[in-house]
Amino acid sequence: MDEELYKENILDHYKNPRNYGEIENPDISYFDTNPLCGDELQLQIKVKDGKADDVKFKGKGCSISQASASMLTEMIQGKDMEEIKKIGKKEILDAVGLQLGPSRIKCALLSLKVLKAGAYGLKTEDEDEE
Ligand code: FES
Repeated sequence: MDEELYKENILDHYKNPRNYGEIENPDISYFDTNPLCGDELQLQIKVKDGKADDVKFKGKGCSISQASASMLTEMIQGKDMEEIKKIGKKEILDAVGLQLGPSRIKCALLSLKVLKAGAYGLKTEDEDEE
């Protein structure tokens, strides 16, 4: 894909986010922000037989952070949780496909940060207070 197509793809995911919303009784739910800008992301996963049976995200923020989250949900849907834990920066940045500067890389990797924390069983601070 050339750069224009990657840009269009990002815009499409931003305007029509895939798997947007919330899951009732998710097994994994993690929320975090990009401290630099305050943009928000929540990712939820329903796990069945060790696989991501349902995946949803919700968030507020720039096109890169929200589009990469949307792409990530498509990437992990139906996948084995062990495989999901192996997803790294490269997979996300390849999916985004554009050359990003350091601050935009943080935008793209917010989704990965939330996924990793959730997949490894960390809890969002708010949940601990309940
Ligand atoms: Fe906030 Fe991109 S500007 S995550």
